[in-house]
Amino acid sequence: MAPSSRSAGSERAGARREVVYLDNAATSWPKPPGVVAAMVHYLEAVGANPGRSGHHRSAEAGRIVLAARRAVAALCGVQSPMRVLLGPNATWALNQAIAGLLQDGDHVVTTSFEHNSVLRPLTALAGAGTITLTVVPGSADGRVDPDAVAAAITARTALVVVNHASNVCGAVQPVAEIGHRCRERAVPLLVDAAQSAGAVPLDLTRQGIALCAVAGHKGLLGPTGTGALVLADDFEPDRLRPLLLGGTGSRSDSLEQPAVLPDRFESGTLNVAGLAGLAASVEWLLGEGGGPEAIGRREAGLRAEFVALAEATVPGFQLVGPRGGDLTGVVSFRVAGQSVSDLAQRLDDEHGVLGRSGLHCAPAAHRALGTFPAGTLRFAFGAFNTGEQVEAAVAALAAIGERRPSP
Ligand SMILES: Cc1ncc(COP(=O)(O)O)c(C=O)c1O
Repeated sequence: MAPSSRSAGSERAGARREVVYLDNAATSWPKPPGVVAAMVHYLEAVGANPGRSGHHRSAEAGRIVLAARRAVAALCGVQSPMRVLLGPNATWALNQAIAGLLQDGDHVVTTSFEHNSVLRPLTALAGAGTITLTVVPGSADGRVDPDAVAAAITARTALVVVNHASNVCGAVQPVAEIGHRCRERAVPLLVDAAQSAGAVPLDLTRQGIALCAVAGHKGLLGPTGTGALVLADDFEPDRLRPLLLGGTGSRSDSLEQPAVLPDRFESGTLNVAGLAGLAASVEWLLGEGGGPEAIGRREAGLRAEFVALAEATVPGFQLVGPRGGDLTGVVSFRVAGQSVSDLAQRLDDEHGVLGRSGLHCAPAAHRALGTFPAGTLRFAFGAFNTGEQVEAAVAALAAIGERRPSP
Protein backbone atom coordinates (compact mmCIF):
# COMPACT_ATOMS: atom_id res chain seq x y z
CA MET A 1 0.00 0.00 0.00
CA ALA A 2 1.21 3.53 -0.75
CA PRO A 3 2.14 5.55 2.32
CA SER A 4 0.07 8.54 3.36
CA SER A 5 1.59 11.95 3.89
CA ARG A 6 -0.93 12.60 6.66
CA SER A 7 -1.12 9.48 8.80
CA ALA A 8 2.64 8.96 8.95
CA GLY A 9 2.94 12.02 11.17
CA SER A 10 6.06 13.87 12.26
CA GLU A 11 8.39 14.15 15.23
CA ARG A 12 8.29 17.60 16.75
CA ALA A 13 9.55 18.61 20.18
CA GLY A 14 9.44 14.96 21.11
CA ALA A 15 5.74 14.60 20.27
CA ARG A 16 4.31 12.82 17.25
CA ARG A 17 1.65 14.81 15.47
CA GLU A 18 -0.22 14.49 12.23
CA VAL A 19 0.78 16.72 9.35
CA VAL A 20 -0.36 17.51 5.84
CA TYR A 21 2.98 17.62 4.05
CA LEU A 22 2.80 19.98 1.08
CA ASP A 23 6.50 20.84 0.75
CA ASN A 24 7.40 18.21 -1.84
CA ALA A 25 9.27 20.77 -3.97
CA ALA A 26 11.82 21.18 -1.17
CA THR A 27 12.07 17.43 -0.71
CA SER A 28 9.44 14.75 -1.13
CA TRP A 29 7.84 12.93 1.79
CA PRO A 30 6.86 10.25 2.51
CA LYS A 31 9.02 7.91 0.48
CA PRO A 32 7.56 4.93 -1.42
CA PRO A 33 7.41 1.44 0.06
CA GLY A 34 10.76 -0.33 -0.09
CA VAL A 35 12.97 2.75 0.24
CA VAL A 36 13.68 2.50 3.96
CA ALA A 37 14.10 -1.28 3.74
CA ALA A 38 16.65 -0.91 0.92
CA MET A 39 18.64 1.61 2.94
CA VAL A 40 18.53 -0.52 6.07
CA HIS A 41 19.60 -3.58 4.05
CA TYR A 42 22.68 -1.75 2.77
CA LEU A 43 23.59 -0.39 6.21
CA GLU A 44 22.99 -3.63 8.10
CA ALA A 45 23.91 -6.36 5.64
CA VAL A 46 26.29 -4.84 3.07
CA GLY A 47 28.04 -1.82 4.52
CA ALA A 48 31.07 -1.81 2.22
CA ASN A 49 32.48 0.81 -0.14
CA PRO A 50 31.64 0.19 -3.83
CA GLY A 51 34.48 -0.15 -6.31
CA ARG A 52 37.17 0.12 -3.67
CA SER A 53 37.92 -3.44 -2.56
CA GLY A 54 37.86 -6.89 -4.11
CA HIS A 55 35.63 -8.60 -1.53
CA HIS A 56 32.06 -9.64 -2.12
CA ARG A 57 30.53 -6.95 0.06
CA SER A 58 32.21 -4.24 -1.98
CA ALA A 59 30.91 -5.93 -5.14
CA GLU A 60 27.40 -5.98 -3.64
CA ALA A 61 27.64 -2.25 -2.83
CA GLY A 62 28.72 -1.71 -6.45
CA ARG A 63 25.59 -3.53 -7.63
CA ILE A 64 23.43 -1.26 -5.48
CA VAL A 65 25.03 1.83 -7.01
CA LEU A 66 24.62 0.38 -10.51
CA ALA A 67 20.92 -0.23 -9.82
CA ALA A 68 20.50 3.47 -8.94
CA ARG A 69 22.42 4.49 -12.07
CA ARG A 70 20.26 2.22 -14.25
CA ALA A 71 17.06 3.52 -12.67
CA VAL A 72 17.97 7.16 -13.33
CA ALA A 73 19.13 6.33 -16.88
CA ALA A 74 15.78 4.63 -17.57
CA LEU A 75 13.90 7.63 -16.24
CA CYS A 76 15.87 10.00 -18.51
CA GLY A 77 15.75 7.76 -21.61
CA VAL A 78 19.55 7.36 -21.62
CA GLN A 79 21.01 4.08 -22.91
CA SER A 80 24.23 3.94 -20.91
CA PRO A 81 23.96 4.00 -17.10
CA MET A 82 27.62 5.11 -17.05
CA ARG A 83 26.39 8.48 -18.29
CA VAL A 84 24.55 8.98 -14.99
CA LEU A 85 27.05 10.88 -12.82
CA LEU A 86 26.00 10.53 -9.20
CA GLY A 87 26.37 13.25 -6.57
CA PRO A 88 24.68 14.71 -3.51
CA ASN A 89 21.96 16.91 -5.07
CA ALA A 90 20.83 18.92 -8.09
CA THR A 91 23.00 21.87 -7.05
CA TRP A 92 26.13 19.73 -7.38
CA ALA A 93 24.94 18.50 -10.80
CA LEU A 94 24.29 22.04 -12.06
CA ASN A 95 27.66 23.27 -10.79
CA GLN A 96 29.44 20.29 -12.32
CA ALA A 97 27.84 21.05 -15.68
CA ILE A 98 28.36 24.83 -15.57
CA ALA A 99 31.90 24.93 -14.16
CA GLY A 100 32.88 21.83 -16.10
CA LEU A 101 31.86 23.13 -19.49
CA LEU A 102 32.46 26.87 -19.59
CA GLN A 103 35.69 28.53 -20.68
CA ASP A 104 37.04 32.06 -20.75
CA GLY A 105 35.11 34.22 -23.23
CA ASP A 106 32.03 31.99 -23.45
CA HIS A 107 28.51 33.37 -23.66
CA VAL A 108 25.63 31.69 -21.78
CA VAL A 109 21.88 32.04 -22.28
CA THR A 110 19.56 31.35 -19.37
CA THR A 111 16.12 32.44 -18.16
CA SER A 112 14.58 34.43 -15.34
CA PHE A 113 12.90 31.29 -14.00
CA GLU A 114 16.16 29.75 -12.82
CA HIS A 115 16.90 28.68 -9.28
CA ASN A 116 19.85 30.23 -7.44
CA SER A 117 21.68 26.93 -8.04
CA VAL A 118 21.92 28.07 -11.67
CA LEU A 119 21.96 31.86 -11.33
CA ARG A 120 24.59 32.06 -8.57
CA PRO A 121 27.28 30.02 -10.37
CA LEU A 122 26.56 31.87 -13.63
CA THR A 123 26.59 35.27 -11.91
CA ALA A 124 29.89 34.42 -10.20
CA LEU A 125 31.47 33.48 -13.55
CA ALA A 126 30.08 36.64 -15.18
CA GLY A 127 31.29 38.75 -12.22
CA ALA A 128 34.79 37.30 -12.60
CA GLY A 129 34.75 38.27 -16.29
CA THR A 130 34.95 34.62 -17.40
CA ILE A 131 31.62 34.57 -19.25
CA THR A 132 28.98 36.94 -20.56
CA LEU A 133 25.40 36.14 -19.65
CA THR A 134 22.00 36.79 -21.23
CA VAL A 135 18.96 36.19 -19.03
CA VAL A 136 15.86 35.75 -21.20
CA PRO A 137 12.87 37.21 -19.33
CA GLY A 138 9.89 34.97 -18.66
CA SER A 139 6.28 36.13 -18.74
CA ALA A 140 4.05 36.89 -15.76
CA ASP A 141 2.33 33.54 -16.32
CA GLY A 142 5.59 31.66 -15.87
CA ARG A 143 6.44 30.92 -19.50
CA VAL A 144 9.65 31.22 -21.48
CA ASP A 145 9.39 31.69 -25.25
CA PRO A 146 11.64 29.20 -27.12
CA ASP A 147 12.09 31.77 -29.91
CA ALA A 148 13.37 34.33 -27.39
CA VAL A 149 15.92 31.76 -26.15
CA ALA A 150 16.97 31.01 -29.74
CA ALA A 151 17.24 34.73 -30.54
CA ALA A 152 19.65 35.22 -27.61
CA ILE A 153 22.13 32.64 -28.96
CA THR A 154 25.24 34.19 -30.52
CA ALA A 155 28.35 32.79 -32.17
CA ARG A 156 30.03 32.77 -28.72
CA THR A 157 27.21 30.93 -26.92
CA ALA A 158 28.65 27.81 -25.32
CA LEU A 159 25.69 26.81 -23.17
CA VAL A 160 21.94 27.34 -22.74
CA VAL A 161 20.57 26.62 -19.26
CA VAL A 162 16.82 26.24 -18.82
CA ASN A 163 14.63 25.33 -15.88
CA HIS A 164 12.23 22.53 -16.86
CA ALA A 165 9.58 23.07 -14.19
CA SER A 166 9.42 26.13 -11.97
CA ASN A 167 9.83 25.53 -8.25
CA VAL A 168 7.87 28.76 -7.71
CA CYS A 169 4.78 28.51 -9.91
CA GLY A 170 4.81 24.99 -11.41
CA ALA A 171 5.05 26.11 -15.07
CA VAL A 172 6.64 23.46 -17.29
CA GLN A 173 8.76 24.93 -20.09
CA PRO A 174 8.69 23.49 -23.62
CA VAL A 175 12.22 22.06 -23.32
CA ALA A 176 11.96 19.97 -26.49
CA GLU A 177 11.25 23.10 -28.54
CA ILE A 178 14.16 24.88 -26.88
CA GLY A 179 16.32 21.76 -27.30
CA HIS A 180 15.71 21.54 -31.00
CA ARG A 181 16.62 25.19 -31.48
CA CYS A 182 19.84 24.64 -29.49
CA ARG A 183 20.67 21.57 -31.55
CA GLU A 184 20.19 23.53 -34.81
CA ARG A 185 22.79 26.00 -33.50
CA ALA A 186 25.06 23.24 -32.08
CA VAL A 187 24.85 24.69 -28.55
CA PRO A 188 24.48 22.23 -25.64
CA LEU A 189 21.32 22.59 -23.55
CA LEU A 190 21.58 22.03 -19.80
CA VAL A 191 18.16 21.40 -18.27
CA ASP A 192 17.52 21.89 -14.57
CA ALA A 193 15.10 19.02 -14.01
CA ALA A 194 15.17 19.30 -10.21
CA GLN A 195 11.39 19.82 -10.15
CA SER A 196 10.40 17.85 -13.23
CA ALA A 197 12.25 14.51 -13.05
CA GLY A 198 9.80 11.92 -11.81
CA ALA A 199 6.73 14.04 -12.63
CA VAL A 200 7.34 15.03 -16.28
CA PRO A 201 8.57 12.53 -18.89
CA LEU A 202 12.23 12.97 -19.89
CA ASP A 203 13.93 11.59 -22.99
CA LEU A 204 17.18 13.46 -23.40
CA THR A 205 17.99 12.66 -27.02
CA ARG A 206 14.44 13.19 -28.26
CA GLN A 207 14.13 16.48 -26.36
CA GLY A 208 17.51 17.80 -27.54
CA ILE A 209 18.90 17.95 -24.00
CA ALA A 210 22.69 17.53 -23.73
CA LEU A 211 22.97 17.59 -19.93
CA CYS A 212 20.27 17.12 -17.32
CA ALA A 213 20.53 17.88 -13.61
CA VAL A 214 18.20 15.88 -11.35
CA ALA A 215 17.57 15.76 -7.62
CA GLY A 216 17.13 12.25 -6.25
CA HIS A 217 15.21 13.49 -3.23
CA LYS A 218 12.34 15.40 -4.86
CA GLY A 219 10.20 13.91 -7.65
CA LEU A 220 12.37 10.79 -7.82
CA LEU A 221 11.16 10.13 -4.26
CA GLY A 222 14.57 9.03 -2.98
CA PRO A 223 16.45 10.13 0.14
CA THR A 224 18.16 13.50 0.64
CA GLY A 225 21.83 13.52 -0.33
CA THR A 226 21.19 12.06 -3.79
CA GLY A 227 21.27 13.68 -7.23
CA ALA A 228 22.73 13.17 -10.68
CA LEU A 229 24.07 14.90 -13.74
CA VAL A 230 22.90 12.85 -16.72
CA LEU A 231 24.78 13.11 -20.02
CA ALA A 232 22.82 12.44 -23.20
CA ASP A 233 24.03 9.48 -25.26
CA ASP A 234 25.28 11.87 -27.97
CA PHE A 235 27.01 14.35 -25.64
CA GLU A 236 30.82 14.17 -25.85
CA PRO A 237 31.99 13.77 -22.22
CA ASP A 238 35.47 15.10 -23.02
CA ARG A 239 33.87 18.53 -23.22
CA LEU A 240 33.36 18.43 -19.45
CA ARG A 241 36.07 18.96 -16.82
CA PRO A 242 35.49 17.27 -13.46
CA LEU A 243 34.65 19.54 -10.54
CA LEU A 244 36.53 17.34 -8.07
CA LEU A 245 39.64 15.23 -8.49
CA GLY A 246 40.61 12.36 -6.22
CA GLY A 247 40.09 8.74 -5.30
CA THR A 248 37.78 6.74 -7.50
CA GLY A 249 38.86 3.18 -6.66
CA SER A 250 40.03 2.78 -10.27
CA ARG A 251 43.47 3.32 -11.89
CA SER A 252 45.10 3.71 -8.48
CA ASP A 253 48.54 3.47 -10.14
CA SER A 254 48.01 6.82 -11.88
CA LEU A 255 48.20 10.32 -10.44
CA GLU A 256 45.86 11.47 -13.18
CA GLN A 257 42.10 11.39 -12.95
CA PRO A 258 40.76 8.30 -14.78
CA ALA A 259 39.17 9.16 -18.13
CA VAL A 260 36.50 6.48 -17.90
CA LEU A 261 32.84 7.31 -17.11
CA PRO A 262 31.49 7.70 -14.51
CA ASP A 263 34.71 7.59 -12.42
CA ARG A 264 36.08 10.78 -13.96
CA PHE A 265 33.29 12.75 -12.28
CA GLU A 266 32.77 10.73 -9.09
CA SER A 267 35.77 11.26 -6.82
CA GLY A 268 35.19 10.22 -3.22
CA THR A 269 32.85 7.72 -1.63
CA LEU A 270 29.25 7.88 -2.80
CA ASN A 271 26.17 8.02 -0.56
CA VAL A 272 25.49 4.30 -0.98
CA ALA A 273 22.70 4.16 1.63
CA GLY A 274 20.97 7.03 -0.17
CA LEU A 275 21.50 5.42 -3.56
CA ALA A 276 20.03 2.13 -2.28
CA GLY A 277 16.94 4.15 -1.39
CA LEU A 278 16.99 5.94 -4.74
CA ALA A 279 17.13 2.67 -6.69
CA ALA A 280 14.09 1.45 -4.73
CA SER A 281 12.16 4.71 -5.11
CA VAL A 282 12.63 4.89 -8.89
CA GLU A 283 11.72 1.21 -9.19
CA TRP A 284 8.45 2.03 -7.42
CA LEU A 285 7.94 5.18 -9.51
CA LEU A 286 8.33 3.34 -12.81
CA GLY A 287 6.30 0.34 -11.66
CA GLU A 288 3.56 0.55 -9.06
CA GLY A 289 3.61 4.36 -9.14
CA GLY A 290 2.55 4.36 -12.80
CA GLY A 291 5.45 6.40 -14.21
CA PRO A 292 6.21 10.13 -14.37
CA GLU A 293 3.34 11.01 -16.69
CA ALA A 294 0.67 9.45 -14.45
CA ILE A 295 2.20 10.86 -11.26
CA GLY A 296 2.59 14.32 -12.81
CA ARG A 297 -1.01 14.28 -14.03
CA ARG A 298 -2.25 13.40 -10.54
CA GLU A 299 -0.16 16.12 -8.91
CA ALA A 300 -1.31 18.75 -11.41
CA GLY A 301 -4.88 17.55 -10.78
CA LEU A 302 -4.47 18.17 -7.03
CA ARG A 303 -3.08 21.63 -7.82
CA ALA A 304 -6.13 22.44 -9.96
CA GLU A 305 -8.50 21.15 -7.24
CA PHE A 306 -6.71 23.28 -4.67
CA VAL A 307 -6.89 26.45 -6.76
CA ALA A 308 -10.59 25.96 -7.57
CA LEU A 309 -11.54 25.24 -3.95
CA ALA A 310 -9.39 28.04 -2.49
CA GLU A 311 -10.75 30.59 -4.94
CA ALA A 312 -14.27 29.56 -4.02
CA THR A 313 -13.84 29.50 -0.24
CA VAL A 314 -10.82 31.53 0.95
CA PRO A 315 -11.51 35.27 0.96
CA GLY A 316 -8.64 37.22 -0.62
CA PHE A 317 -6.98 34.14 -2.19
CA GLN A 318 -4.72 35.19 -5.08
CA LEU A 319 -3.15 32.62 -7.38
CA VAL A 320 0.33 33.63 -8.55
CA GLY A 321 1.47 32.39 -11.96
CA PRO A 322 -0.30 30.19 -14.48
CA ARG A 323 -3.78 28.78 -14.13
CA GLY A 324 -3.53 26.40 -17.09
CA GLY A 325 -1.12 24.92 -19.60
CA ASP A 326 1.61 22.47 -18.75
CA LEU A 327 1.92 22.41 -14.95
CA THR A 328 3.34 20.34 -12.10
CA GLY A 329 1.85 20.08 -8.60
CA VAL A 330 3.59 23.29 -7.46
CA VAL A 331 1.40 26.32 -6.77
CA SER A 332 2.22 29.78 -5.44
CA PHE A 333 -0.35 32.08 -3.91
CA ARG A 334 -1.00 34.93 -1.49
CA VAL A 335 -3.95 35.85 0.69
CA ALA A 336 -4.80 39.55 0.67
CA GLY A 337 -3.84 41.34 3.88
CA GLN A 338 -1.74 38.47 5.29
CA SER A 339 2.02 38.12 5.31
CA VAL A 340 3.09 34.90 3.62
CA SER A 341 5.54 34.05 6.41
CA ASP A 342 2.93 34.54 9.16
CA LEU A 343 0.46 32.48 7.16
CA ALA A 344 2.95 29.64 6.68
CA GLN A 345 3.76 29.70 10.40
CA ARG A 346 0.09 29.59 11.42
CA LEU A 347 -0.67 26.79 8.95
CA ASP A 348 2.07 24.77 10.61
CA ASP A 349 1.43 25.71 14.24
CA GLU A 350 -2.38 25.60 14.20
CA HIS A 351 -3.21 23.08 11.45
CA GLY A 352 -0.13 20.96 10.77
CA VAL A 353 -0.17 22.05 7.11
CA LEU A 354 3.42 22.31 5.91
CA GLY A 355 4.15 24.64 2.99
CA ARG A 356 6.92 27.12 2.32
CA SER A 357 6.90 30.92 2.22
CA GLY A 358 9.28 33.46 0.69
CA LEU A 359 11.31 33.53 -2.50
CA HIS A 360 12.06 29.79 -2.77
CA CYS A 361 15.68 30.46 -3.87
CA ALA A 362 14.42 31.96 -7.13
CA PRO A 363 14.33 35.78 -6.79
CA ALA A 364 14.39 36.40 -10.56
CA ALA A 365 11.27 34.25 -10.97
CA HIS A 366 9.47 36.41 -8.40
CA ARG A 367 10.50 39.55 -10.27
CA ALA A 368 8.96 38.05 -13.44
CA LEU A 369 5.80 37.05 -11.54
CA GLY A 370 5.57 40.44 -9.77
CA THR A 371 5.98 39.00 -6.25
CA PHE A 372 9.48 40.25 -5.36
CA PRO A 373 10.57 40.83 -2.56
CA ALA A 374 7.78 39.51 -0.31
CA GLY A 375 7.44 36.25 -2.24
CA THR A 376 4.60 33.78 -2.02
CA LEU A 377 3.28 30.86 -0.06
CA ARG A 378 3.97 27.66 -1.94
CA PHE A 379 2.25 24.31 -1.75
CA ALA A 380 3.83 21.46 -3.70
CA PHE A 381 1.54 18.45 -4.11
CA GLY A 382 3.43 15.17 -4.32
CA ALA A 383 2.93 11.55 -5.24
CA PHE A 384 1.23 10.64 -1.94
CA ASN A 385 -1.01 13.64 -1.35
CA THR A 386 -4.76 13.16 -1.55
CA GLY A 387 -7.90 15.15 -2.36
CA GLU A 388 -8.73 15.01 1.35
CA GLN A 389 -5.51 16.82 2.11
CA VAL A 390 -6.32 19.49 -0.47
CA GLU A 391 -9.60 20.06 1.39
CA ALA A 392 -7.80 20.16 4.74
CA ALA A 393 -5.30 22.74 3.47
CA VAL A 394 -8.05 24.95 2.04
CA ALA A 395 -10.09 24.63 5.24
CA ALA A 396 -7.01 25.67 7.23
CA LEU A 397 -6.51 28.76 5.06
CA ALA A 398 -10.19 29.67 5.41
CA ALA A 399 -10.10 29.18 9.20
CA ILE A 400 -7.02 31.38 9.58
CA GLY A 401 -8.73 34.08 7.47
CA GLU A 402 -11.80 33.95 9.68
CA ARG A 403 -9.78 34.22 12.90
CA ARG A 404 -7.81 37.24 11.69
CA PRO A 405 -8.14 40.18 14.10
CA SER A 406 -10.23 42.87 12.48
CA PRO A 407 -8.21 45.94 11.47
C1 LIG B 1 14.46 24.31 -9.81
C2 LIG B 1 15.47 23.85 -8.80
N1 LIG B 1 16.76 23.72 -9.16
C3 LIG B 1 17.69 23.30 -8.30
C4 LIG B 1 17.38 23.01 -7.00
C5 LIG B 1 18.44 22.52 -6.07
O1 LIG B 1 18.17 21.21 -5.69
P1 LIG B 1 19.00 20.49 -4.55
O2 LIG B 1 18.41 20.93 -3.26
O3 LIG B 1 18.83 19.03 -4.81
O4 LIG B 1 20.41 20.92 -4.69
C6 LIG B 1 16.06 23.15 -6.56
C7 LIG B 1 15.69 22.89 -5.16
O5 LIG B 1 14.68 23.25 -4.66
C8 LIG B 1 15.08 23.58 -7.49
O6 LIG B 1 13.81 23.73 -7.13
